[in-house]
Amino acid sequence: NNSPYLRVTPSMLRRQTGRKGTDAWTVLGGRVYNIGPYVPFHPGGGPELLRGAGKDGTQLFGEIHPWVNYEGMLSACLIGLYVPEEPPKD
Ligand code: HEM
Repeated sequence: NNSPYLRVTPSMLRRQTGRKGTDAWTVLGGRVYNIGPYVPFHPGGGPELLRGAGKDGTQLFGEIHPWVNYEGMLSACLIGLYVPEEPPKD
């Protein structure tokens, strides 16, 4: 396909927990972000932010601070699109 974005599957996401030298990725609104660079700056603290690492953090994020503009704040940390495990061939 012609999408410029990396397509990230659940199994790819699960590995990016920030542990064992991996990147810390999270999903927000169907997009995948590298949240590692933001860890030292998160007002709620690094460990709290990393609760969303390696998983879809959309619901957790929305329960805590739905007013926060993550798209603007993390635009430079966008990795790609979150897609199902086996995307249909096109
Ligand atoms: C504040 C948790 C992801 C930006 C907080 C606070 C918590 C929290 C508990 C409150 C801290 C306090 O009141 O002392 C989480 C969790 C996340 C997450 C569990 C993972 C899913 C993010 C992301 C961003 C972000 C991805 C932005 C890119 C902020 C901001 C505040 C905040 C700006 C201050 C909000 C305010 O005071 O209005 N977070 N956060 N957080 N977080 Fe997060």
